[in-house]
Formats: sequence, C-alpha cells, structure tokens
Amino acid sequence: MSAKDDFRRKNTSTEMLRAENRDQLDAVTLPWRQEGLDIALVPTMGNLHAGHLALVEAAKQRAERVVTSIFVNPTQFGPGEDYKSYPRTLDADSAALESAGCDLLFTPGNGTMYPYGLDRAIRLGAPAGLATVLEGESRPGHFDGVITVVARLFNLVRPQLAIFGEKDYQQLLVIKHMTDDLGYGINIVPIATEREQSGLAMSSRNNYLEKTARKSAGRLYAELKDAAKLLENGSSDYLRIEKESASRLEKMGFQVDYVAVRRAEDLGLPGPGDRELRLLAAVRCGQTRLIDNVGLIRVGISDL
Ligand code: PAJ
Repeated sequence: MSAKDDFRRKNTSTEMLRAENRDQLDAVTLPWRQEGLDIALVPTMGNLHAGHLALVEAAKQRAERVVTSIFVNPTQFGPGEDYKSYPRTLDADSAALESAGCDLLFTPGNGTMYPYGLDRAIRLGAPAGLATVLEGESRPGHFDGVITVVARLFNLVRPQLAIFGEKDYQQLLVIKHMTDDLGYGINIVPIATEREQSGLAMSSRNNYLEKTARKSAGRLYAELKDAAKLLENGSSDYLRIEKESASRLEKMGFQVDYVAVRRAEDLGLPGPGDRELRLLAAVRCGQTRLIDNVGLIRVGISDL
C-alpha cells in the first residue's frame, strides 16, 4: 500500500469540512498538500442535482481529497439574467455533498472571490472564436465571467484536477483553453451528462419548467440523438441537418436558438473530413432556455 493510501485509510471520516474564506480554506488544504494528497475541485453554483453529484463521484475516484465550491458568480450573468433569483439552497446542497462523500465544501462570498469589488476586479477575456459563438452569441461576456471565476477558484484551491460536465460543452472547452493558456497544469476532467428519465439533461434551471413542459423537454435529446445518427452514417451536409433538425424542434413546440454541428475539439465549422463532431443546441421551452449537446464520431473517416 502506498503512503497516500495509508494516509487515506487512517483519515477517512464521513464528516465534511466547511470553509468560507481563504484562511479557512488554507487551514484545511495546506496539510493535505503537505501530505502529498491530490485534490480534485468541483466548481458549482449550487442547487445541486444528480448531475453535480456525478461530478463529485468522479472526483472521488480520481483524487484523495474532494473540494466542492458553491458560488453564484455575478460576473457570468448578463443584465437581464437570473442572478438575483438563481436558486440558493445551501442546506440541502450541504447535506447532499456530505452523503456523497465530499471532503470540503467551499462557500466563498463576493468579498473572497472579488476582494476589490466587482468594479475593480481583474477580469479575463476568452478568445472570440471559442467564446463569442453559440452560447456566447446569446450571452455576451458570459464566458469571460466563467473563466474569471474559475481561475480565481484554481488560485485559491490549487487543485491537481478539476471536474466539469459535458452538459456545458462550450464552457468545458473555454475552461480547458484558459487552463492550458495560463499554464495552470491542472487536469480538466470532462464528465458525461446526467439525464432525467425523459432524456432531459439535468439542470438547476429545469425547476423553472412546468410539469408538462418538463416531460416534453426530453424530446430535445431524442432529436439530437437522431440527427447525430445521420451524421455518423456519413452525411456531411451539415447545414441541411442543422436546418431540418431545427425545424423538427420548432414543430415540437420549442423556439430554437441554434442547432449547430461543430468540430468537437474547438467548435470550428467542420469540413467533410472531420471525424469527431459535436451537435449542440439551445432552445426555449416556454420561458426556460435549455441547452444540450451530443458527441459523435463519423464512421469511415480515418484519423490519418
Ligand atoms: P453549475 O451550472 O452549477 O454547474 C456546475 C458543474 O456541473 C458544471 O461543470 C456543469 O457542466 C456540471 N453539470 C450541470 N448539469 C450537469 C448534468 N446534467 N450532468 C453532468 N454535469 C452537469 O457551470 C457552472 O455551475 C458555473 O459556470 C461554474 C463552472 C461553477 C463557474 O461559475
């Protein structure tokens, strides 16, 4: 048994620790670091569901210590968005994380994340090609806010790895890019989307959906899977597939923001020879905006 395994065995406790600021965080994480234990960070905005808990589970499998952060980050919300009304359910979240085996819950306030206040905060800017398309078009500045806060969380927690969901595929790529570009040396681990029985991707914003809408929202995923099959089987007429898929979604009662076939690697427009693709969509279902995506590999197109 390695020294790390031995330490873990002796110190396994079910009690989850809490930290609200840098000093409290350091008091817990510095000893872990001195022991050479790997720390995995799971950044969230709370109102946790099974999708978030799948990330915590993945973190536990990959590192000796798991830190989950809950911070509703003001800099990633646009002026008309739901920052104020975003569901804040700390007691339930804390209980869920404790039973999931999270070691430390980090719940910083704005003063810890933005010590100079929002007006004087240093903000990062995500590169246009990746961050101003798709979600970035409907939510200008959103990804700048996301990488601004994730970089701060990385600086505070100093994890070896950080776990993110493929549910927010564009966010995942922007964060990977920021991590590589700024030289963090943190391993970004992507985790598959957790879904409700209907196929609807789990999301904190699903609670905004009415009961009937929640059931029919699962049809978005069914449509994406069907369209992905067409692409896998060789069609490289991406524009036609996007258009036909969008019109089927409109007929189902969604208002389509976009359906887009993109290169999985960088969300660039794919050429006929590109093999690994991502099909991404955003629709409105009543007042609620849903995003989802599926990955696909085109058969018959070789890596070479
Ligand atoms: P939040 O929406 O709370 O999501 C936290 C993490 O959970 C993200 O990595 C997201 O992709 C993942 N996630 C959400 N729904 C999921 C699902 N159904 N299956 C698997 N993973 C899922 O994303 C954010 O917060 C913020 O932008 C954040 C990265 C924390 C920065 O503020």
